[in-house]
Amino acid sequence: MSELPKPLLTADQIAKRVRELGAEITKAYQGRSVVLVCVLKGSYVFAADLARAIDLPLRIEFLGVRSYGSGTKSSGVVQITHDLTHPIEGEDVLIVEDIVDTGLTLEHLLNLLGTRLPRSIKVCALLHKPSRAIRSVPIDFLGFTIEDAFVVGYGLDWDERYRNLPYIGTIAPEGDES
Ligand code: PRP
Repeated sequence: MSELPKPLLTADQIAKRVRELGAEITKAYQGRSVVLVCVLKGSYVFAADLARAIDLPLRIEFLGVRSYGSGTKSSGVVQITHDLTHPIEGEDVLIVEDIVDTGLTLEHLLNLLGTRLPRSIKVCALLHKPSRAIRSVPIDFLGFTIEDAFVVGYGLDWDERYRNLPYIGTIAPEGDES
């Protein structure tokens, strides 16, 4: 595939929405501190920008996750490849996801982190594709609702490519039957 992804959200649109999300989160957690849990790999760009848009004391943790599936399809079977480095018991935890598609990954992570007894656990997702939902999961802070297209850029990949694209665009992956 050689052509550039077709723009869906420009870098400016994303930056504006991330600033708004940061302000919403700052307001929601006034007087408290937050542990941001960045779900790797796709969320690394979003989490870096979001963290700088939040005016609160915060800690950042990274959760390495591998979702087994073929090609562009999620299976819902999630393997933790890198765990948090500190306990979250009694903490206000905010899971940062680049995209919620079927909802299977997020459901799994909410169950997993919930067992570690955080004070609260909420979700901030940049993108949501409700047309693909298999599980209904709460998204407390949401950037954009999008149609069912394969999106890349701003951290999101196709076969590990395009993560460094500064905008979010759509592609039609070869061999994708979804
Ligand atoms: C993406 C995204 C979510 C998950 C969402 O990760 O970062 O973790 O898929 O899909 P779901 O709602 O259907 O479960 P991906 O598996 O592409 O891995 P990556 O973040 O390392 O690119």
